[in-house]
Amino acid sequence: MKKIILSAVACMMLFSCQNESSDASSLSTNAITQRKCASQDVLEAQLAADPTLALRMNQIEQSIQKTMLTGRLVNGKIEIPVVVNVLYKTAEENISDAQIQSQIDVLNADFNAGNSDYNDVPALFSGDKANVGISFVLETINRKSTKKTSWGTRDAMKSTKKGGLDPTSPSNKLNMWVCTIGGGILGYAQFPGGKSATDGVVIDPNYFGLSGTANAPYNLGRTATHEVGHWMNLRHIWGDATCGDDLVSDTPTHNTANYGVPVYPHYSTCPGTPVEMTMNYMDYTDDPGMYLFSNGQKSRMDAIFVSGGSRSGFRI
Ligand code: ARG
Ligand code: ZN
Ligand code: CA
Repeated sequence: MKKIILSAVACMMLFSCQNESSDASSLSTNAITQRKCASQDVLEAQLAADPTLALRMNQIEQSIQKTMLTGRLVNGKIEIPVVVNVLYKTAEENISDAQIQSQIDVLNADFNAGNSDYNDVPALFSGDKANVGISFVLETINRKSTKKTSWGTRDAMKSTKKGGLDPTSPSNKLNMWVCTIGGGILGYAQFPGGKSATDGVVIDPNYFGLSGTANAPYNLGRTATHEVGHWMNLRHIWGDATCGDDLVSDTPTHNTANYGVPVYPHYSTCPGTPVEMTMNYMDYTDDPGMYLFSNGQKSRMDAIFVSGGSRSGFRI
């Protein structure tokens, strides 16, 4: 590999010289002295005199190529820039910067095994619980005063034309809209593969972050954790059907959604009668009842960020 790149670098250098002189000759008569940038001549002389220079230049080339490919990979981890779009009619809906930052902090804790309840995962699932290892950085907060009292679930908040705010660079930023949704909906997400114009997650201010307008029992920021899970391609743990499939093999089959904070162990009546993983973020329990992603869910999330994956733009 090294050898190939090295000879490619040498080749490039040779080529640029040859091209320059042949281009020049086709444009000028032989009588006129051909112009040539001296940098190349100097470099060639240096390369001839010092074989280690090619090696050093090759190392620089490799490192910049790697940076260009994996700029958002910090120590091999994906870092997600977050744009928060706040749409408000009342002063209360115009939540504070501190409340927004508290939500980013929750995402970082929950996706990096840093949540204080991570140790509450029952021994039965201790081999399944995952440190997802994806982090979030608050990049921009956009705020807009609007006339709407509620926005529903048909993406109007994601369109400036419809009174909301268009997403910012959705192929390499996670857009979150914080606005009153209505209809008892806490939040909703768009799965990978959807239109980029509507990509991101929506959370009602009553269920966003830790302070201010956040309301118990949905005041631990887990609505965003759940919705970002969907945005990273996770399905509900019950597979949205009776004893349905969430396409993850290490999560047990659940009868249906669980609510509140179920008493452990809660047995499924699905084939095999497994103990349900009710404390998974992709169930429907109260915020204090959810505190893990599984290794299988982690793999599913990781898969969308690889080069060629549907969210590979986040690597750049
Ligand atoms: N999309 C779900 C809903 O609106 C979110 C559930 C989040 N659960 C939670 N405990 N925060 O119902
Ligand atoms: Zn959901
Ligand atoms: Ca499963």
